[in-house]
Amino acid sequence: MKSLIVANWKMNPLSQKAASQLFDSLKRGLKNVRKTEVVVCPPFVYLSGNRLTSFKLGAQDCFWQDKGAFTGEISPQMLKDLGVRYVILGHSERRQVMGEADEMVNKKIKEVLRLKLWPIVCVGETAQERKKGETFQVLKREIKEGFKNVPKSQMSKVVIAYEPIWAIGTGNPCLADDALTAVLFIRKVISQIFGMALAKKIRILYGGSANSQNAGDYLNQEGINGLLVGGASLKPKEFLKIARG
Ligand code: PGA
Repeated sequence: MKSLIVANWKMNPLSQKAASQLFDSLKRGLKNVRKTEVVVCPPFVYLSGNRLTSFKLGAQDCFWQDKGAFTGEISPQMLKDLGVRYVILGHSERRQVMGEADEMVNKKIKEVLRLKLWPIVCVGETAQERKKGETFQVLKREIKEGFKNVPKSQMSKVVIAYEPIWAIGTGNPCLADDALTAVLFIRKVISQIFGMALAKKIRILYGGSANSQNAGDYLNQEGINGLLVGGASLKPKEFLKIARG
């Protein structure tokens, strides 16, 4: 299985020009990359006009209905029309800053799958939850609620990203061994709900202060199928090193 490397630009960069420059460096740098599958998730406003060949396009969120009176929202159907393949859902910044609850994440996952897009669903514990020994409990709840009533037949398109919140944007990455333990636990929960065959097949990534120096530590673990990269994805040289595997 090829590793999946996902760039999450978050709310960056601040101009169309800077976004084009970033896209151009990636297009050039990724031309001959075969070892990994690369997905770039820019802000919505930079998605258009980027039907790319050397990597796939992803969005950072979307709404749970495909059309109608929902001021300010973006429909998964609109994303599909732009050539978007993947959609990040339930990122901790959305859960914490925008108050997205498990129930909303669940609605979004179902709609994205209905439209045959591929959700990248983020789960992970806060520093406090980790301290209290609640990591597994949090992961189990986010998975059970997030995938409630999702048809098993659609689950093979799902990607899950284990993103411990305390490791995101902090320069304090999770140890590869600990990341693997969490990933194995996620697989166990998936297998309890959807069966062993699917749990073996589903792709699970790690995210949180991943960079070119530590990427190999995660990618070399059997069971971790790729990385969700925030800060380092805005530095083309750094991201290309990660993406080249
Ligand atoms: P980071 O972000 O790589 O900057 O820690 C990861 C993420 O939020 O997906």
